[in-house]
Amino acid sequence: MAKGKKVTVIGTGNFGSTVAFIMAMNGTCHHVVLRGRNYDVAKGKALDMSQAANAARQHTIVKAAKTPADMADSDVVVITAGAPRTPGMSRDDLLTMNAEIVKNYAREIKEHAPNAVVVVVSNPLDVMTYVVLKETGFPRERVLGMAGILDAARMAHFIYEKLEYGAGQIRATVMGGHGDTMVPLPKFTTVAGVPIEDLLDSEEIGEIVKKTRNGGAQIVNLLGDGSAYYAPAKSTTVMVDAILKDTNQIHSCAIMLQDDYGYSDIVSGVPVMIGAGGAEQVIMMALKPLQQRRFKDSVASVQEMVDKLYDLKFFDN
Ligand code: LAC
Repeated sequence: MAKGKKVTVIGTGNFGSTVAFIMAMNGTCHHVVLRGRNYDVAKGKALDMSQAANAARQHTIVKAAKTPADMADSDVVVITAGAPRTPGMSRDDLLTMNAEIVKNYAREIKEHAPNAVVVVVSNPLDVMTYVVLKETGFPRERVLGMAGILDAARMAHFIYEKLEYGAGQIRATVMGGHGDTMVPLPKFTTVAGVPIEDLLDSEEIGEIVKKTRNGGAQIVNLLGDGSAYYAPAKSTTVMVDAILKDTNQIHSCAIMLQDDYGYSDIVSGVPVMIGAGGAEQVIMMALKPLQQRRFKDSVASVQEMVDKLYDLKFFDN
């Protein structure tokens, strides 16, 4: 095995391919491995991206995995596999179908990349993160779901659209599950340090919160046959970067809660310090009663889906 950081991306659809492509363009790591259902397609994309890396004067080599063993020694494994939503579907409608797919890949990771940090992006995100945790048996620090960065980016976009200034300076915060009950937090959202509550009235902020919750569905409806992937992929590589560079930066991520915010044994999105070991620390914010109630509803909606999987005897243990 050549030296250098290695990231395996499972799933070679639009989402997985874009994650790999961003990493190849940025030289995020030395090796990117694409693991998909169809080896020829994975190989074709890998060649194309490796050639693009040369055009970009980057050192990243992208290869297709012929067998699960090709993910050995990965520092990070990103799971994008699973069906995306189509118009009219919620992320939760994908539950049983994607749970089976993700479970199988989780077992591959456990066997072939037992030391990797896993970043889960398949939907419904929080439940899939739970499935990976249970199936790999990895500590919670090494199984994170990507959603908070994406939802915050969407919120920042809608704020910018309204204000028409502050691009790149908007720090939005979204907690909770990556579903219709996500919890955008205007109180923890600023433009160059200025609280948005000083810049927009409550009606405008309410509209932004609504648009943020609906941000994924809006794109699903426009595309007609799949979900967003540019912003989701970029958000994923932000997490991969933080892990590989050991930045200890704080991002909202889905993680198994263990006495955090009053919950245990359930996955939800909270601010997490990310470093080489994955989650270095869960960051506690002082939530107001209304925010606590919304977070509670969001956790409950994830719990309902997890319970459904237990009812279906999905988990072996
Ligand atoms: C979205 C999907 C990726 O929010 O969950 O666009």
